[in-house]
Amino acid sequence: MAKFILAIDQGTTSSRAIVYNQQLQALATARQELTLSYPAPGWVEQNPVEIWQSVLGCINDALAKARLTARDIAGLAISNQRETTLLWDRHSGEPIANAIVWQDRRTAAFCRQLQQQGAEALISQKTGLRADPYFSASKIAWLLDTIPGARAKADAGQLCFGTIDCFLLWQLTAGKVHATDASNASRTALYNLSSQSWDPQLLQLFNIPPSLLPVVKDSAGLFGVSSADVLGAAIPIMAILGDQQAALLGQACISPGMLKSTYGTGCFAVVNTGDKIIRSKHQLLSTLAWQLNGKPTYALEGSIFMAGATVQWLRDKLGIISQASETEALANQSHYQQTELLIPAFTGLGAPYWQPEAKAALFGMTRDTGKAQLATAALCAVAYQSADLLNAMHQDGINVAQLRVDGGMTNNRWFLQALADLCQQHVQRCNTTDATAFGVAFLAAVSLGYYPDISAIAALWQTDWQFTPQLAVTEQRQLYQRWQTAVAAVLAQQL
Ligand code: G3P
Repeated sequence: MAKFILAIDQGTTSSRAIVYNQQLQALATARQELTLSYPAPGWVEQNPVEIWQSVLGCINDALAKARLTARDIAGLAISNQRETTLLWDRHSGEPIANAIVWQDRRTAAFCRQLQQQGAEALISQKTGLRADPYFSASKIAWLLDTIPGARAKADAGQLCFGTIDCFLLWQLTAGKVHATDASNASRTALYNLSSQSWDPQLLQLFNIPPSLLPVVKDSAGLFGVSSADVLGAAIPIMAILGDQQAALLGQACISPGMLKSTYGTGCFAVVNTGDKIIRSKHQLLSTLAWQLNGKPTYALEGSIFMAGATVQWLRDKLGIISQASETEALANQSHYQQTELLIPAFTGLGAPYWQPEAKAALFGMTRDTGKAQLATAALCAVAYQSADLLNAMHQDGINVAQLRVDGGMTNNRWFLQALADLCQQHVQRCNTTDATAFGVAFLAAVSLGYYPDISAIAALWQTDWQFTPQLAVTEQRQLYQRWQTAVAAVLAQQL
């Protein structure tokens, strides 16, 4: 009898598939890197066909590595990069354009206009988000207004909108299901957190016809069944979560006040706020963690746009490393007190600054500046930005005992110690860096009846590395002040 779970983790820089057994042990993992294109300054796109092919490739590779076939899989689970926006033809299934990636800033002027019209308060009150290009709504509007014929097709009900989960569900079911889960819907800036439905006033504000939208479902339950033509077997799709929400669950942050921070392409610190929508006074987002049996669990989130992507920039654009892991040895040759300081506003700045048009800057270079200082500056920048988020949470009245971390960058011990030092926080790494896939696979396991409810994850969660602050508080304060001065300079720059 089929009893394994296959989790798809479709991220910004790579797609992954992991096969789990009923005890949630990972049996096999497959991964494929993805191409990102930057057609104009501030634009970030992906080819939807490449995304789908990479997912399909990973599913087949993971099954082969686990020596299983599709018929052995009892349930599929999907977690995904959020907000990334796609429109496709309802009849042919053809995307009408490349996916506009969450990092894309092309709608910055439109969002500023919304702010000037005073619409930000409305967006924030209804969705917990902001008038920022990060979220899907302005990207959908851009596609409808820019791609020839799109608006007319949309008005005639011939187009579908979806975030990546929704697109994968559509592909897996061969076009039978157009649905998403509430955690992904909550990232569009069109979904009302309190009424738990698409908001007509926001649809009007962004001029988006309701016919485009997918059905919003609970995060756990039967979303549909994969087409045998696509995967070789009809497998139920049993759970969907946005990747950061999946990591929140994977880190067993199931009670209010529990926090995780995931270091993937970006960094997302998310704290569970239970059945309460906490309205941040310090520029954080209110969002939906998951919805189970119609009941929402909320979260407060701080989003940083460049974490692992900053290290990728060292590799792909500067060419000073050939793989991310080399930053650890390089950083060991320098120290926090170095004069070089990087503000990685390569795609603007997210929380708590929300300045989509900010540009990155490197301060404090000398004749001595080399690879080691650049690598150190990149890693420290991610730690300082985490400190920004923890401070904002603290000011919103949320104090956490420990910081649970996961994601690719958490393989780097130097970085984790820097995180503990520069945030003055006890850091616990989850024993799997794939907390995202683990979280959504667990949710599918609950849907399949392998576990009674989500509280069972507490017993499955383990930490393997822990870091405590070694840096004196006075020194941390000085360093952090310098960081804040540098950020202020970037925000003020007119060049
Ligand atoms: O909000 C964007 C986020 O979901 C992207 O996640 O894993 O690609 O950094 P990741």
